[in-house]
Amino acid sequence: MASFARSIRLIAGAWALLLILTASAPSIAQQSQINPTASSVRERQLLQEFDRIQGRVSIPDQRSSVLIQPAGREWREFRTVALRWVGGIAILGMLAVLVIFYLRRGMVRLEAGRSGRTIVRFTTFERFVHWMTATCFIVLAISGLNITFGRPLLLPLIGHEAFSEWSQWAKYAHNYLSFPFTIGVVLIFLMWIAGNIPNKVDVDWVKRGGGIVGRDHPPAYRFNAGQKAIYWIVVIGGGLVAATGYELMFPFYLSGIEGMQFAQMVHATVALLFMAVMLAHIYIGTIGMEGAFEAMGSGTVDVNWAREHHSLWLEEENARAEANARPRPAVTAAE
Ligand code: HEM
Repeated sequence: MASFARSIRLIAGAWALLLILTASAPSIAQQSQINPTASSVRERQLLQEFDRIQGRVSIPDQRSSVLIQPAGREWREFRTVALRWVGGIAILGMLAVLVIFYLRRGMVRLEAGRSGRTIVRFTTFERFVHWMTATCFIVLAISGLNITFGRPLLLPLIGHEAFSEWSQWAKYAHNYLSFPFTIGVVLIFLMWIAGNIPNKVDVDWVKRGGGIVGRDHPPAYRFNAGQKAIYWIVVIGGGLVAATGYELMFPFYLSGIEGMQFAQMVHATVALLFMAVMLAHIYIGTIGMEGAFEAMGSGTVDVNWAREHHSLWLEEENARAEANARPRPAVTAAE
């Protein structure tokens, strides 16, 4: 009887084992056919075919369901590598060019010396708009540079606590000063557009080295070709940084994530090149040319400065002053 019971247990155990083996057989067969790299291939294909890999979330903000946005990797690469190189080369390169230029050319002097007579070049309102925009620009540039280069360059020097405190203030400044800066760019556009339309005189001015490369004094109206270039860079560059900046400042209002990545790329690239150009503008307005700073400082320039750098403008101003000074014809009885 005992041997019968042992036989039954043996048969039952064999059946159970067989059942387990048959149940798992298909999966074992399947596993042996699987290409070990197949799952990663499938992920790569997914990443190529879709612009995002999305899950499901129960919170109201559905944007948080995006797990992977492949383009974000390229954007991060641009922001942390390419942008820093482009910006660094543009700004340091411009500084190097200006230092070399100054050492070779020195300050452009007033050839005829000062006459002692002055002429109004910019009104109080024009100077106010210029300095308001320039001050905002400098603060926006410093706070923007902190966003691009602060982490690798400043953080190791001042430590985490000071860096986060400073970055927070810099961010407030960047956000709030964007408004007066935008107003300044619009006013500059309206205020000086009349004098900044390119014309034939500009071609000749450029061909003759603009009086800064050589020792020539090519004629110019109120703004020469170099100043016109700066004007259009400010208007177009300022317009671009403003439009893209507001897109970043109000996330998801104007575009989705791809739009904001593109906006950041335009904003940062234009801003860094803009800074490089403005260094050249600041150079000519200060140590590069004798008498230039006064135009935006006191608002007046020496007549000899006007003759050497803006002869056609001086002629226009003299003609206007003469016309205003001429006595008006007397009203006749017939009238
Ligand atoms: C209306 C004007 C502007 C607005 C609304 C604006 C707004 C912004 C915003 C929202 C950001 C992103 C900040 C962040 O990532 O937390 C930013 C970054 C930046 N801004 Fe501006 N900005 C303006 C003008 C300027 C100007 C004039 C400059 C340069 C002189 C500038 C230079 C930069 C730079 C370099 C960055 C960092 C880019 C990066 O590395 O990601 N911005 N701006």
